[in-house]
Amino acid sequence: MKILAVETSCDDTCISVLKVKNGNFEFLSDIVSSQTEVHKKWGGVYPTLARREHQKNLVPVLEKTLKEAGLLKKGNSSAEIKDVLKREEILLKKTEKFLSSYKKPEVDLLAVTVGPGLDPSLWMGINFIKALAKAWQLEIIPVNHIKAHFFAPMVLKDSPFPAVSLIASGGHTQLVFSENLNTHRVLGKTRDDAAGECFDKTARILGLDYPGGPEIEKLAKKDSKKEVKFPRPMMKSDNYDFSFSGLKTAVLYKWKDEKDKSENFRVAMAEEIQEAITDVLTEKTFRAAENRKAKAVILGGGVSANERLREKFKKRAESKKLSLILPNLDFSTDNAKMIAVTAYHEWKKGGETPWKELKSKPNLKIN
Ligand code: KG4
Ligand code: ZN
Repeated sequence: MKILAVETSCDDTCISVLKVKNGNFEFLSDIVSSQTEVHKKWGGVYPTLARREHQKNLVPVLEKTLKEAGLLKKGNSSAEIKDVLKREEILLKKTEKFLSSYKKPEVDLLAVTVGPGLDPSLWMGINFIKALAKAWQLEIIPVNHIKAHFFAPMVLKDSPFPAVSLIASGGHTQLVFSENLNTHRVLGKTRDDAAGECFDKTARILGLDYPGGPEIEKLAKKDSKKEVKFPRPMMKSDNYDFSFSGLKTAVLYKWKDEKDKSENFRVAMAEEIQEAITDVLTEKTFRAAENRKAKAVILGGGVSANERLREKFKKRAESKKLSLILPNLDFSTDNAKMIAVTAYHEWKKGGETPWKELKSKPNLKIN
């Protein structure tokens, strides 16, 4: 069977086609259209802009995805979709034109991220998939974005159980305990800023571009002769929660206090910001793994692209003799492949949802 999945929970427009045959997964195509350039000047994702960009990008991304999968065939699959896309004028026009130019593709199931994420962004993917479902008469599987971040690597790399996952991105920082593929429980999460958000905000203080994580990582690789020290918030606290806003404030004060804002000082700041965030993430994840007698640790979300974090996770996993599942970089950041894989399993459990009932769930939790 073939699943077409759409992911628009934040600032990336992602669509992919997954083929599943005899339990084997093959990605026929995977397109990610990034909005980084649009959001750069705001130092973070600006929801109204994200909504507009998704409207502009969804149809071109769909066309590219289907073409790459060899599923784009000239013809007509027009349907009455005005009621579904009545609030998305740009998207409606583009979708109508697309449907009047191409046949229904050979896919069997549709999937979409319904939450958590930015409400205006989520709605774009949801209403778009509803229009396609109506035109092509297909079912839709709703998918939880956070779950997809750890579930897809868990399935694709055949994780042993129990497993502890850390999902660290621009919007979320969560520790999840999985007894098996069907039972997941959140152990803890951030009480304020997410780890990626902390990278982004502190990078902005240092005058670096958005997204801040890769910029801080780049700067931290340089040599500095200066020493800066920041706290490791909640690292020793007796729970699995996180807090990063205090670190951000400490960085801001240090930056304001220092008269000499030389490259050397900025490098030292970047190094210590990265050390502080990755220390807390590593410490808490492996403590959870130990306490819960986990056999595997899984890392997911945009921050898992950080080499220093990967290094620390590898070292700890080796010394504790735990399986470590590190996603490839295209699986770390947002993508629709993880949505398709998760959707396949939801579908196998019998989880189809009538498309009319689908709606955005910005605060969706993992059950
Ligand atoms: O998962 P993701 O692509 O989108 C969200 O769902 O938020 O994560 C984006 C976040 C941003 O905060 C970005 O700064 C961070 O991941 N990030 C990194 C790195 N690459 C991306 N943080 C640290 N080091 C990196 N190399
Ligand atoms: Zn994400």
